[in-house]
Amino acid sequence: MTNYEVQDFFHSATATLTYIVSNPATKDAIIIDPVWDFDFSTGKLADDAVAQYRQYLEEKKLRVLAVVESHIHADHISSAQRLKNLYPDIKVGVSSRVKEVMEVFSKTFSETYTLSDFDFVFSDREHLVFGGIEIDIISTPGHTPACTSIKIGEMLFVGDSIFMPDFGTGRCDFPLGSAENLYDSIREKIYTLPESTQIFVGHDYQPGGRELCFQTSVGEQKKKNVHIRADTKKEDFVKFREARDANLPTPKLLLPSIQLNLRAGKLPEQDSAGKSFIKIPLSIKEKHD
Ligand SMILES: [Fe+2]
Repeated sequence: MTNYEVQDFFHSATATLTYIVSNPATKDAIIIDPVWDFDFSTGKLADDAVAQYRQYLEEKKLRVLAVVESHIHADHISSAQRLKNLYPDIKVGVSSRVKEVMEVFSKTFSETYTLSDFDFVFSDREHLVFGGIEIDIISTPGHTPACTSIKIGEMLFVGDSIFMPDFGTGRCDFPLGSAENLYDSIREKIYTLPESTQIFVGHDYQPGGRELCFQTSVGEQKKKNVHIRADTKKEDFVKFREARDANLPTPKLLLPSIQLNLRAGKLPEQDSAGKSFIKIPLSIKEKHD
């Protein structure tokens, strides 16, 4: 069996984990969920996180063949295109179910989004090969309909489906999100894997100020996850998840993130002066007595 190497990168401003997975024998690598720094108040994008990936890739002399997005992130902007400019071998991929997310947000932003902005799309149970790296796609909808867990050897990169055992699970209140689907994804797709399977989470919010953790196992999750254990009933999870989601704030970077990430991280088309803009749809809050 291939001995893959994994390097984590923690983006503290958005609590995001990015992973570079490589095959030391062939020097091939893929990047899961890379971040592009963004300051909403100025509109400036910056390469702080990208510089860290570059340093690692260059130190290890790796050849990056793909960026794989676990889903369309609502809390950070993907640096997939920035990386693709630096490393032209990169192909950017996402679940084909992103089409459903595109349909919703086409209406929100009065824009047309198309899967052809991505270099490849994948579906549940697909097996993909990038040089010396083989990945299995496991569709785990719930947080969004297009959420994907990425299995590489005995490692599973779960995106925002499930977090460290002390933080629980991803919110399910985004368009087409579903607590019922998340329960089924976790119970049928993740908890059925061997207990020794290593889980790498997509965010760590460091509850209670504890130190950063991002790696756990299927066995540990089944025993200790605060939202969903091996014996948690579906109705209990759904009730809890929906009640909690009702009180969660909208992510600060939701509007810019969705607009760029649905374009695979490309900036919106430039105007005649060469400038790109994002939209902020306005609405007036109805007052209910
Ligand atoms: Fe997410």
